[in-house]
Amino acid sequence: MSSQELSRENEPSTEHDGEGENRQFRARIVSFAARSTRLKGRQEKAWAELAPLYILSPERQMSKTSIAAHERLDIAKVFGREGARTVVEIGSGQGECVEHAAVSHPDTNFLPIEVYMPGLASTLHRIKRTGVANIRMIQGDAAEALNHYLPEQSIDELWVFFPDPWHKSRHNKRRLIQPEFPPKAARVLKPGGTWRLATDWVEYAKQMVEVIDASPYFDRVETSERFEGRPLTSFERKGLAKGRVITDLTYTRNDVPLSQEDIASFELIHQEVGSTPDVLDAE
Ligand SMILES: C[S@@+](CC[C@H](N)C(=O)[O-])C[C@H]1O[C@@H](n2cnc3c(N)ncnc32)[C@H](O)[C@@H]1O
Repeated sequence: MSSQELSRENEPSTEHDGEGENRQFRARIVSFAARSTRLKGRQEKAWAELAPLYILSPERQMSKTSIAAHERLDIAKVFGREGARTVVEIGSGQGECVEHAAVSHPDTNFLPIEVYMPGLASTLHRIKRTGVANIRMIQGDAAEALNHYLPEQSIDELWVFFPDPWHKSRHNKRRLIQPEFPPKAARVLKPGGTWRLATDWVEYAKQMVEVIDASPYFDRVETSERFEGRPLTSFERKGLAKGRVITDLTYTRNDVPLSQEDIASFELIHQEVGSTPDVLDAE
């Protein structure tokens, strides 16, 4: 696997892409907020050394976090092996969970998806520290990765742990788990595959249950137990310190095929060019 295959634009940057009148913006609302791309000390070092090897940076369409419509990921090629189980973690943050998982399960491929560059850089530092060989990271919007970048029925497990709660009611529309999301998750999961979620925001947990229970593609596994593969992250620790209650949810992808309507909806994401910048786009 060459570093060129793995990375096309891994240079740290605080600049916007294509400033000026030709710049395109998403019309769609995204689930992440603008945050700094500045890397500190060991993050910067890990990025310079390892990003070309471990960060998958597909061609962009509109912004630095978008994934061009024609991009398709060859999972066996990027991991250099066939037939391994593959787990995708959306919003991997500082990489605490994926590091723990990759060390415990060297035979499994782990594909974290994250838009936050310092988080990706911290995960690179963890890769360096532990020497794990079974992580490749997607730098980009998970909604777009699931929509068209990841192959259909290629994933054994999908993890969404502590997605941004967007707790103010005027921001609820930014939550990742909205009715349009389960069809995307259903597209990439193998029949019988598992979707795990966790949140420390009770209202969001209710929304997750409402939205995913209403999807024809998923069956809820009746258990309230904490997934043993989910270590305590600093994000969860802060929530617990504030007295928040953690909800773990598990769903199984059943064998209901995707409807024609949902398949058609995957095309729509590419027509969502807006004319005004999304002020909360994370760049
Ligand atoms: C609240 S943090 C939780 C991080 C981690 N899962 C944990 O438990 O510590 C949510 C993370 O999701 C990322 N995120 C939000 N929306 C995303 C999206 N559409 N695609 C990729 N990452 C996203 C954010 O950048 C942030 O790092």
